[in-house]
Amino acid sequence: METRRKLFIETYGCQMNFSDSQIVGSIMTDNNFETTNNIAEADLIFVNTCSIRDNAEKRVRARLQEYKRYKKLKPGLIIGVLGCMAERLKSQLMEEEKMVDVIVGPDAYRDLPRLLELAEGGQKAINVILSADETYADINPVRLDSNGVSAFISIMRGCENFCSYCVVPFTRGKERSRDPETIVNEAIDLFNTGYREVTLLGQNVNSYKSDDGTGFARLIERVALINPKLRVRFATSHPKDLSEELLKIMAAYPNICRSIHLPVQSGSDRMLKLMNRKYDRQWYMGRIEAIRSILPGCALSTDIITGFSSESEQDHQDTLGLMKWAAYDYAFMFKYSERPGTIAEKKYKDDISEEVKSQRLKEIIDLQQELSYRSNLADVGKTFEVLIESFSKKSGKELSGRTSQNKVVVFPKQDFKPGDYAEVKITACTSATLRGEAVIKPLNLL
Ligand code: 5AD
Ligand code: SF4
Repeated sequence: METRRKLFIETYGCQMNFSDSQIVGSIMTDNNFETTNNIAEADLIFVNTCSIRDNAEKRVRARLQEYKRYKKLKPGLIIGVLGCMAERLKSQLMEEEKMVDVIVGPDAYRDLPRLLELAEGGQKAINVILSADETYADINPVRLDSNGVSAFISIMRGCENFCSYCVVPFTRGKERSRDPETIVNEAIDLFNTGYREVTLLGQNVNSYKSDDGTGFARLIERVALINPKLRVRFATSHPKDLSEELLKIMAAYPNICRSIHLPVQSGSDRMLKLMNRKYDRQWYMGRIEAIRSILPGCALSTDIITGFSSESEQDHQDTLGLMKWAAYDYAFMFKYSERPGTIAEKKYKDDISEEVKSQRLKEIIDLQQELSYRSNLADVGKTFEVLIESFSKKSGKELSGRTSQNKVVVFPKQDFKPGDYAEVKITACTSATLRGEAVIKPLNLL
């Protein structure tokens, strides 16, 4: 039997990128490669990259310098750059980073075997063609680094919202939805192999629309119907498209998790307009009110950008005020990073100083820390159903899992194992984690 060559794949950026790396893993496994976690034994290194902020790109560049070392030790080693940076920089990246042999954009992964052949023949190989219809629907992802309990399912690709600060519409192309049948079948297969949670992924899942007219609410309902023991999550929602229909479907199925990620970006109407977000503060607050009334107990998280073009102290205060009002359970918070080619780069000045950006980011992070702590404190004394994902990092005697609200809970193991559900009473917390104890013993202890 021919021995398989070894692929080491490293992923940066969003969950979509991690999901894409699994598709790449599958394509390469069909082409006589196997994946390895040991970079030193790799014949091929892929780095799946992110362009969303300048520091994401800088991190990848630094990593590429380290790969040089491996190339010196193994001259036949091939290095490929995949994903958003490949798409944004195209052949320019090869000119700047001589160690790179292959460049592949997010819609061209089926072409990888051919590109590799070219690279093995000593040529530089590149494919950054974006597609109007590629969804990799028929490719069964190789579940890299999986805990065997929770998995991502990519349901759509691309983005056409053109938020003025964002590079994604340029790196990931037009919006397209994957055939619902293939999504439901993938979720059934995962459940049958022991998975207990799927996260439906897309840049804007609420605008999912298949050729047969299935919308996101109906799709998530079909996945929820597979089995009440299969949890369903989704990411990410654009506030402008969060429908009442979806909230009502969520309310009807307890296995659709009580957690919504609703990126607000800013609490200031002036900023939202410049950002081309297509909603205002009032409308966003209305969405939260709808969530609170239709889905009581639903957790809420968000993304915030601070220091966008011309942001004043008042705009910043508006963001802090909205955060307090929404009482987010969790937030991802970023300094604005101007991206080449975006609308903001062309139309607006990146005129907030680094010091002011840092100061505002600190204030936002400090506030969120307090909000997260308060939210966790309110859970102490309550009991939650926890899906166990793994043994706790610090001690093999404890398990780690998550509530429907997406909060991490650590508790003594007893006879439970990853993949089990446990009723856990919360006894203590920090701003990041809940601690508790299982209140009902597993069946075999009764
Ligand atoms: N600068 C800083 N943050 C950004 N994001 C997107 N583009 C930028 C940028 N140019 C943030 C947004 C988005 C999250 C994925 O990344 O908050 O929701
Ligand atoms: Fe980064 Fe956006 Fe590309 Fe994801 S889609 S890898 S967040 S630039």
